[in-house]
Amino acid sequence: MAQDAGPMSTLVFFVNGKKLEDPDVDPEVTLLTYLRQKLRLCGTKLGCGEGGCGACTVMISRYDREADKVEHYSINACLAPVVSLHGLAVTTVEGIGSTRTGLHAVQERIALAHGSQCGFCTPGMVMSMYTLLRNKPRPSMADLDEYFAGNLCRCTGYRPIIEGFRSFTTDAGAGGSCGRSDCCRRKGKGCDVKVMNGEMNGDTNDMYGDMNNDMNGDMNNDMNGEMNDHMNGETNGDVNNVNGVTDDISHVLYDTKEFQPYDPTQEIIFPPELKLHPEWQTQNLVFRGPRVSYLRPSSLSELLCLKAEHPGARIVVGNTEVGIEVKFKNQTYPVLINPTNVAELTKVALTKGGVAFGASVTLSAVEETLRRQVNALPEYRTRIFSAILEMLRWFGGKQIRNAAAIGGNIMTSSPISDLNPLLAAAGARLTVRSAENGEREILMDQHFFTGYRRNSVRPEEVLVTVLIPFSQKSEYFLGFKQSRRREDDIAIVNAGLRVRFLRETTTVEEVVVAFGGMGPTTVLPLLNLEGRCWDSSLLETGTSRLLQMLPLAPSAPGGMVEYRRTLALSFFFKFYLSVRGRLSEQFPSLVAALTEEEKEATKEHRHVTPKSTQLFQTVPLGQSPQDPIGRPLTHASALQQATGEALYVDDLPRYQNELYGALVLSSRAHAKILSIDASHARGMEGVERVFFAEDLEAERNKTGCILTDEEIFVSDTVTCVGQVVGLVVAKDQATAQRAAKLVRIDYEDVKPLIITIQDAIREKSWWGPWTIDQGDVEQGLKSSPHVLEGEMHVGGQEHFYLETNAHLAVPRGEDGGMDVFSSTQNPTLTQQLVARALGVACNRVTCRVKRMGGGFGGKETRNNSVTLPICVAASVLNRPVRIMLDRDEDMQITGTRHPFLGRWKVGVTKDGFFTALDMEFYANAGCSANQSLDVVQKAMLSMDNVYRCKNRRVTGYACRTHLPSNTAFRGFGGPQGMLFTEDMVARAADFLGMDHDEIRRKNMIDSGDVTHFDQPLDRCTIRRCWDDVIAQSTYHARREAVERFNKGSKYRKRGIYLLPTKFGIAFSVLFLNQAGALVHVFTDGSVLLTHGGTEMGQGLHTKMIQVASRVLRIPASRIHISETSTDKVPNTTSTAASFSSDLNGMAVLNACSTIMNRLEPYMAKNPKGGWDGWVKAAYLDRVSLSATGFHKTSGITGYDFDTHKGIPFSYFSYGAAVTEVEVDCLTGDHSVLRTDIVMDVGESLNPALDIGQVEGGFTQGLGLFTLEELRFSPEGVLLTRGPGMYKIPGFQDIPREFNVSLLRGAPNPRAIFSSKAIGEPPLFLASSAFLAIRQAVAAARAEQGMDPVFRFDSPATAERIRMACGDALARMTTTDTADTSKPWSVTV
Ligand SMILES: Cc1cc2nc3c(=O)[nH]c(=O)nc-3n(C[C@H](O)[C@H](O)[C@H](O)COP(=O)(O)OP(=O)(O)OC[C@H]3O[C@@H](n4cnc5c(N)ncnc54)[C@H](O)[C@@H]3O)c2cc1C
Ligand code: FES
Ligand code: FES
Repeated sequence: MAQDAGPMSTLVFFVNGKKLEDPDVDPEVTLLTYLRQKLRLCGTKLGCGEGGCGACTVMISRYDREADKVEHYSINACLAPVVSLHGLAVTTVEGIGSTRTGLHAVQERIALAHGSQCGFCTPGMVMSMYTLLRNKPRPSMADLDEYFAGNLCRCTGYRPIIEGFRSFTTDAGAGGSCGRSDCCRRKGKGCDVKVMNGEMNGDTNDMYGDMNNDMNGDMNNDMNGEMNDHMNGETNGDVNNVNGVTDDISHVLYDTKEFQPYDPTQEIIFPPELKLHPEWQTQNLVFRGPRVSYLRPSSLSELLCLKAEHPGARIVVGNTEVGIEVKFKNQTYPVLINPTNVAELTKVALTKGGVAFGASVTLSAVEETLRRQVNALPEYRTRIFSAILEMLRWFGGKQIRNAAAIGGNIMTSSPISDLNPLLAAAGARLTVRSAENGEREILMDQHFFTGYRRNSVRPEEVLVTVLIPFSQKSEYFLGFKQSRRREDDIAIVNAGLRVRFLRETTTVEEVVVAFGGMGPTTVLPLLNLEGRCWDSSLLETGTSRLLQMLPLAPSAPGGMVEYRRTLALSFFFKFYLSVRGRLSEQFPSLVAALTEEEKEATKEHRHVTPKSTQLFQTVPLGQSPQDPIGRPLTHASALQQATGEALYVDDLPRYQNELYGALVLSSRAHAKILSIDASHARGMEGVERVFFAEDLEAERNKTGCILTDEEIFVSDTVTCVGQVVGLVVAKDQATAQRAAKLVRIDYEDVKPLIITIQDAIREKSWWGPWTIDQGDVEQGLKSSPHVLEGEMHVGGQEHFYLETNAHLAVPRGEDGGMDVFSSTQNPTLTQQLVARALGVACNRVTCRVKRMGGGFGGKETRNNSVTLPICVAASVLNRPVRIMLDRDEDMQITGTRHPFLGRWKVGVTKDGFFTALDMEFYANAGCSANQSLDVVQKAMLSMDNVYRCKNRRVTGYACRTHLPSNTAFRGFGGPQGMLFTEDMVARAADFLGMDHDEIRRKNMIDSGDVTHFDQPLDRCTIRRCWDDVIAQSTYHARREAVERFNKGSKYRKRGIYLLPTKFGIAFSVLFLNQAGALVHVFTDGSVLLTHGGTEMGQGLHTKMIQVASRVLRIPASRIHISETSTDKVPNTTSTAASFSSDLNGMAVLNACSTIMNRLEPYMAKNPKGGWDGWVKAAYLDRVSLSATGFHKTSGITGYDFDTHKGIPFSYFSYGAAVTEVEVDCLTGDHSVLRTDIVMDVGESLNPALDIGQVEGGFTQGLGLFTLEELRFSPEGVLLTRGPGMYKIPGFQDIPREFNVSLLRGAPNPRAIFSSKAIGEPPLFLASSAFLAIRQAVAAARAEQGMDPVFRFDSPATAERIRMACGDALARMTTTDTADTSKPWSVTV
């Protein structure tokens, strides 16, 4: 009987030590779905479903019988079919510890080190670290680097995660350290740092030892000067300062003494039963589901038979490719064959010619084997292996490499495969077999790849082995890869290059080069350089032949055509230099040694252990130890987040009669709907109902957050791709999503199609314009000796909160009411819009928010495009309906930060004073008004940043386009507005040949100045932040060092940039500046607090507990916040504008004060009664122990753009940063070497949370200004959907040294307990990295004789950097002729 006709197997595996046997499992179900839905283990999170975020990381343990040892490895549960776990043990975050049974050290340390904000990434982080410790109880920081490449966090900026986990490594002493080489904790002492000259000097010396030895000399002197100024001068204001030593500064955000020791011997044991049943690992398996059969043969002959029977069957090992094709490319494969039990495919054999890997050997195992060979064999034999190892460092994340096989990469034959160019250039040989024709050998040469994702292996054949050859003495081999983000990213271009010389000569015997990313396949251009000498003429010939042989059409998929061609040439140049360097060692008299500059060009990126410090003011002497204000309290639910116990919407238990919703989305940007055919969807088993506009009264179908200009379901004309046309409601997610794909919509395109800002300007399609006018701009410009003009584009940004939109609508039944559990920052708006859609009063709808896995503005209003359809469905069907968007849907539907175009004109005197300024801002608002009008106005209100100018005008347009509606995002237009100004300042300074800092300082505001909207400034701390960051960063000395570095370095350039920021705090719409709170004191003395703000990771609930704790004078541990709910605190304002602590904190204070007033008589009567006694006495006396609180911000009026009057902001937050970067001029790659920030947060309510916001905001800003790039097709389709295509910063992208100080002695009388807002203000400081990059590029251009004053748009991607650096190679690929063909993507 053929295997596939045999009986169904029973799946046997272990989860957290418990044996599971499932005789009826669908092979299409992933491990993640199985854990979350069947086992209700919801700690493992779904962040992307495509292996790109690490939120679903679990540990797999397997018994290796041959070696008699248990292997542990991490994988992405979202990609692993659950049936692939047969005979294995799975450990999830719940399996290693809990708050009830005891925390694992990993869970405890990430929580206490403040490494968990929203917590959605935290279980994945915990499991990556846990797996590392199971393999290596004392890892190095480099190991950490390797294990965390596949984990993303959008909140923390990674620093606290690294610091928390550093305590497990060989780089730490007993516990965590601040990262400074002289950290007292590393020396086994408690922390006793006082910021003073000596210590800071030591630290900085150390850094320069690392970075550039030759800089030490004169820098110390300069630096001492600066530090002395800093410590002794007036900048210290009211801080205690005795002989340069401050005694109120701490850098201890947590006490490592609280960490329980890590004891590897206490780990949970491998299930012994798995050792006793070898057959589970070896038996044939058959799992059959409704659509897919999954077979696991145990011999090669069985595998070949199955392949002969089912030539269309997919062989699947890691499922990292097939899983993506099925989920995102609508592929169906009825037969899947798992070959991991076939000995020939899992063997590794050392042969005479090289190492032969079975095709199913995982990439991690390939790495391990090659590393062993590199360590054991002479260097010349393993040059190919070394290059592959280097490439594997940047291949996916650890979880991907643990699952994916070498054969899968070859057989997928993706044009951007990372291994194929190397294997092809190396001359790897493949053996393939089929049942009918037996074995044949294939050389991976230029004939192997036959088309896009096709190769010469026949459908009935199976790849059995891959032979990677040893290199020879006279042979050199290198690999290159350039991607958007260094770690865990697919290549833009990659290459393998090999040259062999005739023995003992410099004459080329053979050259093979292979490139990925340069066409539909891996390409092997024939350079015909054989017989040539390795000299500059060979370089020239090779370059020009490559140029001819690697053409790319302007519309080539992936875009970046000129950049990709330049990269190919740059890689060849680097290869040429590296080989010349090696030859010069062998033939010093024949081949010139590389100059220092040339050596720089050949350097590879190396792991650098990150460093950091965090400095903040301690609480005043005498503050009660129980009073938590000003102390670095841990996030209130950090422990629950680290153990997976924290509940997010999709973790809520399922109702018995619950249904699932899937959205039907528009696929055209501007088109009339002609007809909709949902018959196939309706006919699918399990589909309950399909909803469209016709199912809702027209008036109730209307919605929108400020203007009612949207529809819940589009009724007639779609105005963007990704608009909600319908909703399929079915018994489960899989059915609903499949059915939604079956709905057919016919459209007729409507003109005009407006996608870009330029399109909108052409069509005059906008809301607005609005203008703020101050002084006489025309006169100011006329009287100015110099008038400059410029233009800049700042790209948008995807929020990429780790938890996608998730909502659950539960009809109440009897009164037409609804409970809505929602991941929204704005419960009141959701309540109002749901009530309107259902045609009921607000009092029938309750919106409840426990927590969100990040929001950043993206869940303020856009969540309603998802919430409303399911509420309508739940109401009609009278059954609960749930939805959680897939990552690609979320990215398509919910809009982004606004892309902006800024135009400016500035008048400036020869001394650098601004006389007049005229600016125009155009934001791409998308297809509805949403919050765009306010975003543009905030950009306009922020355009002054920190500069004075008497005559100013700014005009703003919110461009109406056919893109998804763009929305709030941390900073709310402010960062874009400020960047235009800073671009203008920098270009004005360049024009005048003036120091950038000098022009800034000359025009810098001070207390007593007024803004361009006539708001007076008081308590302006910008100059203090500026001076302090100069001192902290030893800026002047490092600036000189950068200049010296650039003089001696042609192919790498550095830039260092000092940047100030100011951010207005309050909602500019007056009525929003209000908040409420509700406090219940129970008879046992415990307190339940509710306020109007939502928790999305920023620590708002923690701060509110701290406020209540101070006012009630009880420990924070006695106060609990359960959730935010519209039936507890009504009419709340969105948690946004960084203003939530200020608003809600005052409301909490108000409510708690009421309670305290009521308790006053009992305290007076019995002073020693204590809290519990007073509460009880009041209760017995029939006094209400429940109180509401309310606050409205005074002293502001909002700003009226018609009358140009008003005070929009309660106060301003200030900060300054210095960032140093290094740029590779040949590839466009950059590294952030160091960032120093000084931030004014007033008197911090909680320095750990505030520093967390500074670091997290800065890192998000780094993404905005240097990395993240949204790409849209000319037809308005978002091309960058998901972490595979859209790159947010990873662990390696943060500054290698990251120092944050909170400004001391800066109390703010306008907010709760003298604090200041923090969420948004620091984000803009990341543009210091952008401007530092531009400075580095300017240095490169100056050397090329190009104009160092140039337009440089944001983000500073590798493409922009490389192409702006110019040079001969870039010029070769630049086409001057106007291109009329349609590009792959457009700048929106
Ligand atoms: C998050 C993520 C990051 C990634 N990063 C990278 C990266 O940096 N660089 C890169 O190059 N790729 C990357 N990939 C792509 C993918 O991981 C690799 O191509 C991987 O090697 C595929 O291996 P697999 O075992 O998972 O393949 P599978 O998905 O199991 O199979 C892939 C294909 O190979 C065929 N196949 C497998 N074995 C055989 C065999 N023995 N005989 C015949 N056909 C066979 C299968 O039928 C299927 O068509 C990434 C993927 C993801 C999801
Ligand atoms: S959910 Fe699995 S990696 Fe993102
Ligand atoms: S804490 Fe990492 S994503 Fe929110």
